[in-house]
Amino acid sequence: MFKKILIGYDGYEGSLLALEKGLHLAEELKAEVIVLSVASIPEYAETVSEVEEAKEQARKYYADVLSDVERLVKGKDLKVQTLIRFGKPAEVILHTAEEMGIDLIILGPSKYSYLRRRILGSTADKVVERAHCSVLIMK
Ligand SMILES: Nc1ncnc2c1ncn2[C@@H]1O[C@H](COP(=O)(O)OP(=O)(O)O)[C@@H](O)[C@H]1O
Ligand SMILES: [Mg+2]
Repeated sequence: MFKKILIGYDGYEGSLLALEKGLHLAEELKAEVIVLSVASIPEYAETVSEVEEAKEQARKYYADVLSDVERLVKGKDLKVQTLIRFGKPAEVILHTAEEMGIDLIILGPSKYSYLRRRILGSTADKVVERAHCSVLIMK
C-alpha cells in the first residue's frame, strides 16, 4: 500500500524514534525511504556571505545528524535516500512530499503540550493538516 515513505528527521529524540520505527515499517512494506532534514536559513543575516556561512554550518550539522541513518540502515535490505533542504520545516516537508510522489509521511511527536502547540504551532500539526497523503506520528 505505501511504496514511498518520507521520514522527517531533525536529530531530536522523537524523530529518532520515528526514524527507527519508520525504517522497520519500510522494510516490512518493501517501501522506498527518503529521510529529510530541514535546516533553517537565518532570518536576519545581512550579507550573502553570512547566509552562505550559516548554510554551510547547517549542512555540516545535518550531515552529522543524517549519519545516524547510515548506522540504522546497515545490513537492512532497504532503498534509502537522505536529503538536506533549507526553509521552514513544515513547508519543506509538504513540498518535498508532493514533489517526490510520497504516499506516507512519518514524523515524531512534538515535545510540547497541546496548549503550547495551539499557540505556537508545531511542524507535525501543520503537516497533518495540509499533507496530500497519509501522515503517521510515531510515539
Ligand atoms: N527541521 C526538521 N526537519 C525534518 N523533520 C522535522 C523538522 N522539524 C520537525 N520535524 C519532524 O516533525 C516531528 C515533530 O516535530 P515538531 O512538530 O517540530 O515538534 P517540536 O514542537 O517538539 O519541535 C519531528 O519528530 C520530526 O519528525
Ligand atoms: Mg520543531
